[in-house]
Amino acid sequence: MAAGAALTDRHGAVEGRPEQFDLLGRTWTLLPGVFAPIHTTTTELFSTWLPFPVGGSFLEIGSGAGVTAVTAALTGCARVTALDISSAAVRNTAANAERHGVADRVRVLRSDLFDALDTDEQYDVIYWNSNVIDAPPEFEYLDELQWAFFDRDYAIHSRFLSQGPKLLTPHGRMFLGFNTLGNKERLRVMADGLGLELTTFRRQAGEVGGIGVELCLLEVLVS
Ligand SMILES: C[S@@+](CC[C@H](N)C(=O)[O-])C[C@H]1O[C@@H](n2cnc3c(N)ncnc32)[C@H](O)[C@@H]1O
Repeated sequence: MAAGAALTDRHGAVEGRPEQFDLLGRTWTLLPGVFAPIHTTTTELFSTWLPFPVGGSFLEIGSGAGVTAVTAALTGCARVTALDISSAAVRNTAANAERHGVADRVRVLRSDLFDALDTDEQYDVIYWNSNVIDAPPEFEYLDELQWAFFDRDYAIHSRFLSQGPKLLTPHGRMFLGFNTLGNKERLRVMADGLGLELTTFRRQAGEVGGIGVELCLLEVLVS
């Protein structure tokens, strides 16, 4: 929990926060109150590792500033949906889709997990760089930025695992960007209970807000 609070402070700091940043060879708009990819290596690494379905459909939960969703579209995904519970993140993703000329292919919606999707939507790849800190059931979200780090009682992780597989195309794949600040054991128990398997697609030592962690892109295997 202390790590989550430190991360919220760091990503919420106004002083010295740029209005734009460079990542993956492009310049990105950064709005106040949005998870800032400059403070961690997760956004860059996961966006590099993800097998974007060229010509297919990509769904990102929690798009933040929009780097991954926009990169998916620029890599050749025909249809990208970017969802975030934070209104500032939704505006930020839309601004970057516009900035990089892919607003026609990136649909951005404010949504609590999958709630804003139509019931018949299906995707070739579903991805979430998750808010990994397992917050206690009594945790109160005080501002939108805390959604970037905390998941109360791991309820969103639980819903991601139970609802996500139903949104996949027949050969669709589901990924979770995770790190060692998260509760991997709890995640594994949830996956087991749903008959899902978690495998490590790629991992690497890295840092999150100055804290050394192991970053891993997990694949959720649906049998
Ligand atoms: C760790 S940040 C990752 C942001 C971005 N994907 C990136 O990699 O730079 C997690 C994001 O998930 C969003 N989020 C958290 N809970 C959510 C929920 N229930 N539904 C949708 N988005 C959520 C947060 O607002 C935040 O933007």
